Amino acid sequence: MKQIRIGMLGCGIVGSAVLRMLARNRSDIERRVGAQVEVVRVAVRNPSKERDVPEGIEALYTTDAHAVVRDPLVQIVVEVMGGIEPARSLLVEAMEGGKHVVTANKELLASLGRELFDAAERAGVDLYFEAAVGGGIPLIHPLKESLAGERIRKVMGIVNGTTNFILTRMSEEGISFSAALAEAERLGYTELDPSADIEGFDPAAKAAILASIAFNTRVVAGDVYREGIAAITQQDIAFAARLGYAVKLLAIAESQDGEVAVRVHPAMIPRTHPLASVRDNLNAVFVQGENVGELMFLGRGAGGPPTGTSVVGDVLDIARNILSGGRGVGCTCYTEKTVRPMETMFAQYYILLKVADLPGVLASVAGVFGHNNVSIGSVWQEGVGEEAQLVLITHRAMERDLRATLHDLRELEAVTKVASVMRVEGGEA
Ligand code: NDP
Ligand code: HSE
Repeated sequence: MKQIRIGMLGCGIVGSAVLRMLARNRSDIERRVGAQVEVVRVAVRNPSKERDVPEGIEALYTTDAHAVVRDPLVQIVVEVMGGIEPARSLLVEAMEGGKHVVTANKELLASLGRELFDAAERAGVDLYFEAAVGGGIPLIHPLKESLAGERIRKVMGIVNGTTNFILTRMSEEGISFSAALAEAERLGYTELDPSADIEGFDPAAKAAILASIAFNTRVVAGDVYREGIAAITQQDIAFAARLGYAVKLLAIAESQDGEVAVRVHPAMIPRTHPLASVRDNLNAVFVQGENVGELMFLGRGAGGPPTGTSVVGDVLDIARNILSGGRGVGCTCYTEKTVRPMETMFAQYYILLKVADLPGVLASVAGVFGHNNVSIGSVWQEGVGEEAQLVLITHRAMERDLRATLHDLRELEAVTKVASVMRVEGGEA
């Protein structure tokens, strides 16, 4: 029987799951692909580390990652080490040497995707990355291939499991942000540096990848407007619940007048919206297309076995391409669209103000909104005297006008604090 030989870069959470899956499903894989898929080298930092891998893998360990990408036997390099360097140079070298690549590295793809795809194109090899967004959820193939004939309007999703877990625990159990974060860390959901989750860097990288594919233009992580969840309070979540909303960290990519708009920020969404019921560390991506209408992809966005499934799927796809002499779909960023500045975006806003409880205060606050062209949809007062707070929901307004409103509110004597501001999505069109 023919053999397809794999070199692994990394054998951590994802890499070890890939090795277990290839071993456990060996005979099925042989029948599905028509060849044996053999791992021949595995690069790690510390070969003596305890790992949950199939018997015999230890003999394949090397601390020299370059030896993996230079090994003439290796046909597919699986990069599950993470980070920018040395992953970038290793993958470029692998492709220049005619090797196909599977990577789960969203950080690398979202910053240097163009360089990688150019290298793949020059070398005529496949570069697959299903695991990079949504872990075990098939997203990249459906967007690139199944929806190739569709015009996608909007992609909106929950693409970070850690923050979704924290927001779920805060709203359902009433636990504090820091206690929920500690629990997420204990369960292994967070990035090595959890600020990548909390501050929104991880979902921004994923949003850039999704936007690039959905709108056929290169969007990098730095193009994505980003706000994290650290400022969300129990009080915001409670007000959201009273208004019929759930609070979620959303990644949103939209096509607007020939431009693309890409952002990651917390938002209130109606409890009736399909994304509102996505709990714990689950991920979900909601796609709106011109003909297909609305689609939702839901599942486990992190963890070794789910993510490993996507990696193995890519490996087998490439193995079939090698055997048939074909190639998969390469880079689909064939246009150059402008990324729309956040200031020109429209949204509804929730605003919580601490105010003096005196005659005329509401009128002066309303005056600031009106003066800046922001229309108030609803307003009510909570508490009296020193505890007085105004909760406002605006109609759709331009971000630039909202920022001017907040600036003027902070200058107003009657407003002691602009306590919270959050966008409201999925409400007014
Ligand atoms: P881990 O930290 O668990 O594993 C990284 C592996 O790479 C380790 O085996 C490590 O070796 C090895 N490694 C790192 N640097 C080097 C180096 N310079 N030379 C040789 N080996 C090296 O990461 P994960 O498995 O969690 O993540 C891997 C990739 O998958 C990342 O890009 C991540 O963003 C992505 N991903 C992860 C998901 C998850 O749920 N974990 C979900 C989706 C994507 P050693 O073990 O000896 O330290
Ligand atoms: N830290 C990431 C998350 C892992 O919480 O979603 C998967 O990319």
